[in-house]
Amino acid sequence: MPVPKIDLNDGRTIPQVGFGVFKIPPADTAPAVGRALEVGYRHIDTAQMYGNEKEVGEAVRASGLDRADVFVTSKLNNGFHRRDDARRAFETTLSDLGFEYVDLFLIHWPLPTLYDGDFVSTWRTLAEFRKDGRARSIGVSNFQVGHLERLAAETDEVPAVNQIELHPYLLNEHVRAYGQEHGIATQAWSPIAKGTVLDDPLVTSLAHKLLRSPAQIVLRWHLQRGNIVFPKSTTPSRIQQNFELFDFQLELDDVEKIAALDRGEAGRTGPNPDTFARAS
Ligand SMILES: NC(=O)c1ccc[n+]([C@@H]2O[C@H](COP(=O)([O-])OP(=O)(O)OC[C@H]3O[C@@H](n4cnc5c(N)ncnc54)[C@H](OP(=O)(O)O)[C@@H]3O)[C@@H](O)[C@H]2O)c1
Repeated sequence: MPVPKIDLNDGRTIPQVGFGVFKIPPADTAPAVGRALEVGYRHIDTAQMYGNEKEVGEAVRASGLDRADVFVTSKLNNGFHRRDDARRAFETTLSDLGFEYVDLFLIHWPLPTLYDGDFVSTWRTLAEFRKDGRARSIGVSNFQVGHLERLAAETDEVPAVNQIELHPYLLNEHVRAYGQEHGIATQAWSPIAKGTVLDDPLVTSLAHKLLRSPAQIVLRWHLQRGNIVFPKSTTPSRIQQNFELFDFQLELDDVEKIAALDRGEAGRTGPNPDTFARAS
C-alpha cells in the first residue's frame, strides 16, 4: 500500500510517514537511513542540530533512488537566526547533505526570549531560500499559536508545516487546530513519546485486540488524525514495523479513547517552546 501524501499549502505534497534521525550518532545514521529507504520510507527528517546531515545525504545517494523520490527535511540551528548566519547555515546544510535543495526547511525553535524575540526576520530569510528554489517548501517547528499569529500579521508567507511535539500524552490540540484552520500541516515529533506511551494499558490492550505492536497502534492513530509522523529507530525490525501501518484501521471510538490519554503540559517530554532558550 502506498504511503498517503499530505497536500501542503504551497502546492507540494509530503509523504505522511517518514523516518526521524534525532539522536542517531553519525556512524549509525547511514545504515539506519539505508534500511529505512529499503523498507520503503521516502521521507527523512533531519536537522543541523542532529549532526548527521552528511550521513543522511550519503545514505540517500547510496540507495540508488532518484533524489527527487526522497523527501528530505532539515532545520535551521538555534545559533543562526540572524540573516547572515542563517544564510551561511543553510549553505552548510546543503553542502553537508550534498544536495542542491532540501524539500523542506524549518526554523527549529522560535526562541521568543532570544534575538529580541525576532523570529519574524528569520522567517523572512527562509522565504528567500524558498524563492531561490533551494528550499522547495519552508515551515516552522515548535511554534505556538501566538508565534504563528505574529507571522500571519507581519508577513505574507504562511508556513507549509509546523512540527510540534504531539503524541497521546500531549495532544497539543490548540496548536494543531490553529494549523488546520490556517492550512498549516501538522508534523508530530516524538510520535510515540520516545517509547513512553507504548506501555500504556489502553495502547497494549488495543495492540492485543488488533494483533499489532503498541507502536503500530499509536502511529496508526496519528495517521487517522491526519498528522505527519517520522518515528526514529535504529533497530531494523522496528524500522520495518513502524512502516507497516496501512493494512489495518482503528475504530473511531478507539481513536477517541487514545486521544483521551492527553495529559496536557504534564505529558510534554521536551522543552516548552515559550521558554526554551538554548542558542547552541
Ligand atoms: N522539531 C523538533 O524539535 C524535534 C524534537 C524531537 C524529535 N524530532 C523529530 O521527530 C523524530 C522522532 O522523535 P524521537 O526520535 O524523539 O522519538 P520517537 O520516534 O517518539 O521514539 C523513538 C524511541 O522509540 C523507540 N522505538 C522506535 N520504534 C519502536 C517500536 N516499534 N517499538 C518500541 N520502541 C520503539 C526507539 O528505540 P530504538 O532506536 O532503540 O529502536 C527510540 O528510543 C526525531 O527523530 C526527529 O526527526 C523533532
